[in-house]
Amino acid sequence: MIIVLGSINIDLTTTAAEIPKPGETVIGESFAQYAGGKGANQAVCAARLGAEVVFLGKVGNDSYGDFILREMERSGVDVSRVERCDTHTGLAAISVDANGCNCIIVVPGANFIVDTAYIERHRDAIERCDMIMAQHETPIDATEYAFKIAKAAKKTTLLNPAPAAMLSKEMILLTDILVPNEYELARIRGRRCDSIEAMEESALALQKRGIKTVIVTLGEAGVLYGGKVYPAFAADAVDTTAAGDSFLGGFAAAYAKNRDLAEAIQYGQIAASYSVQYKGAQSSMPAIEQFEEYKWSLLKKQM
Ligand code: RIB
Repeated sequence: MIIVLGSINIDLTTTAAEIPKPGETVIGESFAQYAGGKGANQAVCAARLGAEVVFLGKVGNDSYGDFILREMERSGVDVSRVERCDTHTGLAAISVDANGCNCIIVVPGANFIVDTAYIERHRDAIERCDMIMAQHETPIDATEYAFKIAKAAKKTTLLNPAPAAMLSKEMILLTDILVPNEYELARIRGRRCDSIEAMEESALALQKRGIKTVIVTLGEAGVLYGGKVYPAFAADAVDTTAAGDSFLGGFAAAYAKNRDLAEAIQYGQIAASYSVQYKGAQSSMPAIEQFEEYKWSLLKKQM
């Protein structure tokens, strides 16, 4: 069983030919509301691909919370431990341009009410899981507490340090698998990571400090792991929102099943490649049948 400790957001998404620069107003083309949040997205992707997923997090007492919990449940995520609180459900204002690129402002709301007391109430689940994964859209001290419980019970911990933030020494020691993008890696390392060599050097430095596995996501260029770039599967991108989350969900589902890193990376990349072709976050993620069909179409192209 995988525990995802993380955020649940309502994504309020506008599309426009170009994302406005500071001080600029542009006329948009469309508006839609999607179920999102990095944690919820990763959980939904893993569950749709067949993993048993239990979610830890919070939503507000509002209709957005009702809507997203319903969607997560429909995808097979166990949301019975998600708590309601007296603030609004997390909200993300997202702009997507004609190339499918996005920029996002997150207002955390209920996500930032997740604390160590809440984690303690769910210690039993953490002690029973195979793997726990978290991101940076819920408070870091609560994640650290959850990872401590997981490590004491000899469970695997995976951190996707998004949005970018520094990591404490403790957090580095508690993390088995770190999956940053190049900006997040640079923030953790405290130096530029603008070439494959610099990223590899930083990944090795973090491994020396205690993280077993560092996988750097490179967007459409693929993934860097163990000094090797695994190229992404090309796709016509409509909306890249949650492509990273799809990678993580696919990776986690496969890794929890058989612990093979290369295969898990490929699963993640197939899920990400699928998702960029559709609008929204959770709305763009494949069901298992769609995933299998897409996987075979990609593998056939490679033959
Ligand atoms: O990673 C994409 C997600 O980031 C969106 O769904 C949005 O909610 C923000 O959390």
